[in-house]
Amino acid sequence: MVGNKYLEPGSRSAELYARARAVMPGGNTRTTVFSAPYLAYVASAHGASVTDVEGQTRLDFVNNYTALIHGHAHPRILDAVRRQLALGTAVSFPTETEVRLAELLVERVDSIERLRFTNSGTEAVMMAIQAARAFTGRSKIAKFEGCYHGAYDYAEVSVGPRPDQAGDSLAPRSVAESAGVARSAPDEVVVLPFNQPDAVARILAKHAGELAAVLVDPLPHRSGFPDPLDDFLPRLRQITRDLNILLISDEIISFRLGYHGAQQRYGYTADLTTLGKIIGGGFPVGAFGGRADIMNVFDPTRSDSYVPHGGTFNGNPVTMVAGYESMAMLTPEEFDRLAAMGERVRVGLANIIEARGVSWQVSGQASLFKLHPHPRALGDYRSYLPTAAEQAATEQFYLAMLGQGFILTPELAGSVSTPMTDRVIDDMVDAADRIFATA
Ligand SMILES: Cc1ncc(COP(=O)(O)O)c(C=O)c1O
Repeated sequence: MVGNKYLEPGSRSAELYARARAVMPGGNTRTTVFSAPYLAYVASAHGASVTDVEGQTRLDFVNNYTALIHGHAHPRILDAVRRQLALGTAVSFPTETEVRLAELLVERVDSIERLRFTNSGTEAVMMAIQAARAFTGRSKIAKFEGCYHGAYDYAEVSVGPRPDQAGDSLAPRSVAESAGVARSAPDEVVVLPFNQPDAVARILAKHAGELAAVLVDPLPHRSGFPDPLDDFLPRLRQITRDLNILLISDEIISFRLGYHGAQQRYGYTADLTTLGKIIGGGFPVGAFGGRADIMNVFDPTRSDSYVPHGGTFNGNPVTMVAGYESMAMLTPEEFDRLAAMGERVRVGLANIIEARGVSWQVSGQASLFKLHPHPRALGDYRSYLPTAAEQAATEQFYLAMLGQGFILTPELAGSVSTPMTDRVIDDMVDAADRIFATA
């Protein structure tokens, strides 16, 4: 496949986008799903492929931002969902489906003794923060600069601050992500530099008496998947434990790193963990869980210091059965196969970068990868942040890959899915090579 028909004047996507603009601001309902001038509208998706309304089929390395680890329309997930559809989609009663998925997750992650479901990762983070506040009696949280944790005011601080606003790299300022964030939110959020344990220890010690929790994404995608330094996460755990601050591990993406998630991979134990994406089998989902003594703040049989947590579709049985099938298929062997395919992508791309002599690099671990149009050592948000020229190169490469039939995110991140094969990966690497050859 060569070319992007959706960008041609008069295309069906152009028509749909014009209609969308008349009823939605900028024609858009999900900020992440926009790239100028507009995106292709999709007609169908199966396995590793996505077909747009122009009839062009591409291989999908975005997988709905890492959520669809089994690709699209997996037959086993569809069967389970079809069976559940006939039994009811959402009832105002608990069902066995939520118990089964909760049992599976508690079994896999040592630090999760109790958990609750939400409808998105955003809500999972929001409720984990509320749990930490209620349990500790403290209100502030700390998070790392350049890390995304969803659309909750207290998580939307210093996600992508401009360099001129961000302050000292070892003592970052708290910057509201947009004018929509509560004016008081930055005052409630202490911002930390990723991969800088001494600076983190210093900042946390200063604020210890007012912090409920530290929120950390162990492999932050908005900072370009920088590898955490070997002892960074265990040290963060030690520092937070010494200062009596709770640690929340946001594994909404990084739960993909292995059968037991990110904590076992990196050797630390969080007090609370947030999950999402892959645990919903392609349906809207989130979950948060952790130590029983903390999670007990949600126990409705308690009358003291009780925290309510509603949600019309929490634990809805369609998501629960899809999520159960998704997770049940992810055996340790399947995680190994995904990681081997991810490594094939990273090594393949690194090899062509070297052979073509271009100043690019690849980051990522297990089934995750990201291309960067610069050779700077990646360690945190500041080293990741692209210049205007790098941003332009990124956009050009993204469109060129689409034209070759391969979907990456507009920032050139991707993930592999279980229906992929080595052949698909080699074809993607060959396409990237053709683009580098003509650049
Ligand atoms: C680390 C992390 N936390 C939280 C979220 C928010 O999840 P959701 O989009 O399901 O609200 C995301 C979404 O990409 C994420 O990557």
